[in-house]
Amino acid sequence: MLRAHWSGRLAFILAAAGSAVGLGNIWKFPYITGTNGGGAFVLIYLLCIAVVGVPIFMAELYIGQKSQANVVESFNVVAEKKTAWRSIGWLGLVSAVLILSFYSVVGGWVLDFLFRSVSGEFLVETESEIQSTLGILFQSPVRQLILHLFFMVLCVLIVFRGVQKGLERWNKILMPGLLILLLLMFVYSIWLDGFSKSLTFLFAPDFSALTPAGVLEAVGHAFFTLSLGMGAIITYGSYLKVSERVVPTALAVAGLDTLVALISGLTIFAVVFSFDMEAKAGPTLMFQTLPVLFAKLPAAYWVSLFFFLLVSFAALTSAVSLFEVVISYWEEAKNTSRARACVLWGVIIYLMGMLSALSTNVLADFKLPIVGLTFFDFFDNLTSQYFLPIGGLLISLFFGWKLSAKACEEITGAKGIWSIGLLWTARIIAPVAVGIVILFKILEDL
Ligand code: PHE
Repeated sequence: MLRAHWSGRLAFILAAAGSAVGLGNIWKFPYITGTNGGGAFVLIYLLCIAVVGVPIFMAELYIGQKSQANVVESFNVVAEKKTAWRSIGWLGLVSAVLILSFYSVVGGWVLDFLFRSVSGEFLVETESEIQSTLGILFQSPVRQLILHLFFMVLCVLIVFRGVQKGLERWNKILMPGLLILLLLMFVYSIWLDGFSKSLTFLFAPDFSALTPAGVLEAVGHAFFTLSLGMGAIITYGSYLKVSERVVPTALAVAGLDTLVALISGLTIFAVVFSFDMEAKAGPTLMFQTLPVLFAKLPAAYWVSLFFFLLVSFAALTSAVSLFEVVISYWEEAKNTSRARACVLWGVIIYLMGMLSALSTNVLADFKLPIVGLTFFDFFDNLTSQYFLPIGGLLISLFFGWKLSAKACEEITGAKGIWSIGLLWTARIIAPVAVGIVILFKILEDL
């Protein structure tokens, strides 16, 4: 059977950018920038993207493209024998299932705010009513389960249609849509009073505001935001024709992802500062602060609607990439149909996600033994702080030491400073940097 492929490089860039650009950029990046004091954190984050993110992105893309195989098999193919390194693929599969299970729940919250924006509900509510929206949703297990179901069904339907008819087609619609909406909101924010303050906050580094924990968070976020360390880029790369070049493609996706994060941050903080709100609001920033502020702006209905539509697009295009990792593996390894794989894993992930959806209500008081976290927090912490960095570290080592100089030369096109730089980044710099972070994280959690 002939393996599916993207129709071309642009299709791949849109899909991979669709995977990378998600809740990580629009929801998480602004709030962790806020809690970590702004500019200095942004600088460290940019450094992490450049030094650790981009090289590992290239390594994953190379492994996927070269092998034209699923996340587990790809390691065997590029190593030219059955290798223990393929366990990185198993870890990736586990990460994909875990991440998607709670990502879909948050996706459901976004849909809830989208529906409320469509109904115009925020326009007639008082400030405190709007602010309690998230809390009310948290208290409602049934509503959360239905929204989670809705999000998962959308995800399954897209992936079920396959690479070109599903993933590619929807990314081609949703990604440009997202970029246009984001730019509209950004241009709008330039005229707000808080815009210049937002610029200063993000781009004038104040190193006294940065903590060691902030540095650790920046590294972890670099993996999450670029969809690295769990095989999403390997899987998407495996549908890229072997003739496409890795470097410009990787730079385009990483650049786009970073740009979206920065523009989202600028826009959100312009709104926050225009109304003298706290930049440190934390995870609730997007859900509790923004709708309140939106309601005060001219054209409130449309601003809110556009914004939550944008976040829904971003969440969905990331979720399908997580799901595709599992489906492409299952389809090939079990020699079954895509439809069967989608139904089976859609159901399993939905059921696991129930644990997260119920973590804010029925199961709120249930803390997992030893770690002392709810299911939601546990799945989130375990994957973004441990599994993704560990996966990324191993991929970097595999690439640097096992595939070695030959792979680097293939990627950069020639022997020389760039291929040597890539080689030693993958061999030493990235693994050491990430290794230190994981170590500190373990110490912090003990
Ligand atoms: N990169 C996505 C985001 O920023 C999340 C994601 C992580 C997607 C890992 C796929 C794999 O929201």
